[in-house]
Amino acid sequence: MQNTFALRGNLVYTPACGELALHPHSYLVCENGALAGIFDTLPARYAGIPVEDHGDKLILPGLVDLHAHAGQFAYRGLGMDLELLDWLEQNAFPEESKFADPHYAEAAYRLFADALTRSATTRFCLFATLHRPATLRLMALLEAAGLRGFVGKVNMDRNSPDTLRETTAESLAETCRWLEESADFAHVRPMLTPRFIPSCTDEMMAGLGRLQREFGAPMQSHLSENLSEIAWVAELCPGTRFYGEAYARHGLFGGACPTVMAHCVWSGEEERALMKENGVFIAHCPQSNMNVSSGIAPVRQFLREGQHVGLGSDVAGGAHLSIFRAMTDAIQASKLRWRLVDQDLPALTMPEALYMATKGGGAFFGKVGSFEPGYELDAVVLDDAALPTTRPCTLAERVERVVYLSDGQPCAKYVAGRRLF
Ligand code: GUN
Ligand code: FE
Repeated sequence: MQNTFALRGNLVYTPACGELALHPHSYLVCENGALAGIFDTLPARYAGIPVEDHGDKLILPGLVDLHAHAGQFAYRGLGMDLELLDWLEQNAFPEESKFADPHYAEAAYRLFADALTRSATTRFCLFATLHRPATLRLMALLEAAGLRGFVGKVNMDRNSPDTLRETTAESLAETCRWLEESADFAHVRPMLTPRFIPSCTDEMMAGLGRLQREFGAPMQSHLSENLSEIAWVAELCPGTRFYGEAYARHGLFGGACPTVMAHCVWSGEEERALMKENGVFIAHCPQSNMNVSSGIAPVRQFLREGQHVGLGSDVAGGAHLSIFRAMTDAIQASKLRWRLVDQDLPALTMPEALYMATKGGGAFFGKVGSFEPGYELDAVVLDDAALPTTRPCTLAERVERVVYLSDGQPCAKYVAGRRLF
């Protein structure tokens, strides 16, 4: 039985939103990169397969970062006293301009790829910058690290500094070339990435819509994040009833175009109805929403409506790359929203946050984010012995402590059945 092995340890996952499945000291069998099953004792048919015994440690599905900016990692934790649009102009755009220099890009993306590799994140949707060569280099680093996910060359042809703007024709031609060159990568795939509507003309969006249909690539962008941004979009796109229409009218809002929209803090009923109808994934990024004063997204509402919801670090709007941190931020922000804004939307729970961090966001990648049979085996092994306590804890409590207290770095990590460390 080649390509078959088992992990042993305390297995925890979320088969449904809010539901924790707990398998103490159990075996998880992986065949050809996918999960064959979970067993108390190893069945006779698997006798003799290699067993990686992780003792009393916790084993969780790999976490999913549905929205982050690799090109902003180097300045995370800096410049956090501004609201979104000023923050973009004064921090994000000057930093991203530096990626025109291949030496700078190499150094910054190496730092990012190393940090992501050591983290509990196994899958991702990332913004690079608008620079094609640097974006390809980021994809190569992530692929070499054994990680899987999507990366986008950013498109910007208006309302951006001279150092971070392409002409429409140039941007579309570079995007087309980048999509062709990305064929070199097996597991880190390209994703169309118009930055947001204020950065992209109608001609650009129409061109990206054509490229989407030609290449079948998924897309990602920002949606209804901040009130000043939304007012600006309404001015830039007269005739649209809501922000999402500015994407939808170019075929870039779910449906045949798998789509991740970051934030959706202020998405109204019509926008949410279209997201639901088209299966748009929402990347909830609570820390960024607090840092750049955007607000608190109504995540309970999203879940009730049956929207696809995952979590995003949104580095560097979010200062922390850890999706464990995004889980606790999501729970805490939802408590404030319930207390201060809307008592009809109860706070999120730890099992719900774990679901969004794993199976919720993982669904964008196929069968990812759970330990159910047939799922790709993404797993992280966590050692809570490093967080000693005098209190005896149940398995569920141990998971909660690790999420709240650890820096999120696993001691072993598997992506699609391959052990990275
Ligand atoms: N909207 C457009 N660009 C960005 C960005 O880089 N970060 C965040 N948080 N929002 C954006
Ligand atoms: Fe973002």
